[in-house]
Amino acid sequence: MCGIVGYFGKRKASDILVDGLRRLEYRGYDSAGIACLFDGRIDVVKNPGKIKDLRLKVDSAASPILKESIQGIGHTRWATHGPPNEVNAHPHLDASGHFAMVHNGIIENYKDIRSGLAKEGIECISDTDSETLVQLIAFCYKGNLEDAVSEALQRIKGTYGIVVMTDHEPGKLVVARCGSPIVIGIGRNETLIASDASAIIPHTRDAIYLEDFDMAVITPDGMEICSVDRAPVSREVTAMDWDAAAAEKGEYKHFMLKEMFEQPQSIRNAIRGRLDYEMGTAVLSGLDFSARDAAQINRVLVVGCGTSMHAGMVGEYAIEEMAGVNAEVEQAAEFRYRNPLITPSDLVVAISQSGETADTLAAVREAKQKGALVAGLCNVVGSTIARETGRGVYLHAGPEIGVASTKAFTCQVSVMLMMALKLARTRRMPGHEGTEFARWIQRLPELVEEVLKQNDAIKAIAQKYAKCEHAFFIGRGYLFPVALEGALKLKEISYVHAEGYHAAELKHGPIALLQEDTPVIALLNNVPGKEKTQGNAEECKARKAPVIAVVSAGDEGAAEGFDDVIVVPDCPPAITTIPTVVALQLLAYHIAAARGCEIDQPRNLAKSVTVE
Ligand code: F6R
Repeated sequence: MCGIVGYFGKRKASDILVDGLRRLEYRGYDSAGIACLFDGRIDVVKNPGKIKDLRLKVDSAASPILKESIQGIGHTRWATHGPPNEVNAHPHLDASGHFAMVHNGIIENYKDIRSGLAKEGIECISDTDSETLVQLIAFCYKGNLEDAVSEALQRIKGTYGIVVMTDHEPGKLVVARCGSPIVIGIGRNETLIASDASAIIPHTRDAIYLEDFDMAVITPDGMEICSVDRAPVSREVTAMDWDAAAAEKGEYKHFMLKEMFEQPQSIRNAIRGRLDYEMGTAVLSGLDFSARDAAQINRVLVVGCGTSMHAGMVGEYAIEEMAGVNAEVEQAAEFRYRNPLITPSDLVVAISQSGETADTLAAVREAKQKGALVAGLCNVVGSTIARETGRGVYLHAGPEIGVASTKAFTCQVSVMLMMALKLARTRRMPGHEGTEFARWIQRLPELVEEVLKQNDAIKAIAQKYAKCEHAFFIGRGYLFPVALEGALKLKEISYVHAEGYHAAELKHGPIALLQEDTPVIALLNNVPGKEKTQGNAEECKARKAPVIAVVSAGDEGAAEGFDDVIVVPDCPPAITTIPTVVALQLLAYHIAAARGCEIDQPRNLAKSVTVE
């Protein structure tokens, strides 16, 4: 969603801001802009559309402010209030032009504020909720920016991550957060601000993550952090462990392609040091409950959204099957509002790549409120969900830049399988079975490599179906969530209307949609019920729908009579989810590529959904 950058230091601010915005492009946006302050004046450049066009506009501007400034703010906007145009793009200025601000989040009472300002003769010019905040800050200003920000923030309802500056006080940036992440990078003689670490890792590794209701005041003398109502707070400097190169495409055409091919390594990183082959269990130090406490857990509730929820579904199956513990998965958005029944013996697991998804975060807060044990499975270190859960497991997938989640999903499933193993060993699973399962987890990177070797063959199949407008993915058992995930991957990057169904569900309605040009991707690997799915795939064939069969190695006969076949390594049902999904990721990627889609930044999508 929206992205923020800010800079104060010794270097040319406009270059750093535009480069930072480029690094945030993956989050999804439809307009962008920067504001720089120099010689007591602010200049703003905004543009609906891509960062490369913003860069051209900045480079061609004659303004000495943009050329000389060492202080500025920038933003990528994903439209919510009003269309993506130049007026609605950030940074917003107040009516006098002396204050500039970028904002992530939503000001819920903006209409009231706007009418209050109108009574004072201050008219907003954009459709946005954000502009009202900078107007309010300017209205509250009596000679000290942080006082004005503090007063204004106490009058608003909603969420914010903001950076504000005024030409009345050159050299000062005021930053604040409530519900929208802000990281402050501390470099040599410079300070960088961003909504997401990827914008600043090329410049520094030392960072402070603001907490909700923190306000930081950055001046040439250093930085002070207090609460929005001006109580002193202290925040630690932490080291960001992501490698800047990991956030670059390198030789790959798209981040998604790179990230798919990184999966053997990212899974290795996710499982490293976490398997105890002798005891046949997983060692997840972030799940710090003892075997005795683990044995008290009566139910595991997994919450997440989109791809993360699909990973949770695989975990649900594994936890019930292996540990014999009741497990349920729920969309975080539903969980937060339906007043779920939670007891202290419930373990609520929140899964989120970004660790910032608004609904998942709200579900975490609801579960904590109701007294459950809460754990987070996050990729982004220091993210809000990781910090608020306090207990959990990092995925170690490295930065995921492609909007379509790939390596995070396979790491999430790997971690869920380890969590299931850990719970299973405190209960009914004997040691030798635990060791055998741990060995299968250890083999995951090589199983994924086997699938990646088929890239060309999968590309050839994809090209045959690239013109289809509808597709169905069907599977059973562990392969049901994989079917959902395969369909999600295809629809989000290729705009093919794709649906994932339990194979048995097809006859209850969706089969009516099958036609000659509607491929069905049938997951026929070796899982219980395979023969039944095979029968369902035959039913599709009988309705003239072409069938792409995914089968286990050694069982190629299962694909007989179908149009195309993808063979994945033969492995136990829980394990097969990972190599199978990799095959579906490749299929989706190549269909999208053949259709000429913008794979890394699909239309309307944002990498991290920080509003409801
Ligand atoms: C799809 C995708 C989304 C995310 C969802 C949750 O490829 O990436 O469905 O999985 O928005 O995001 P996180 O995992 O960051 O909470």
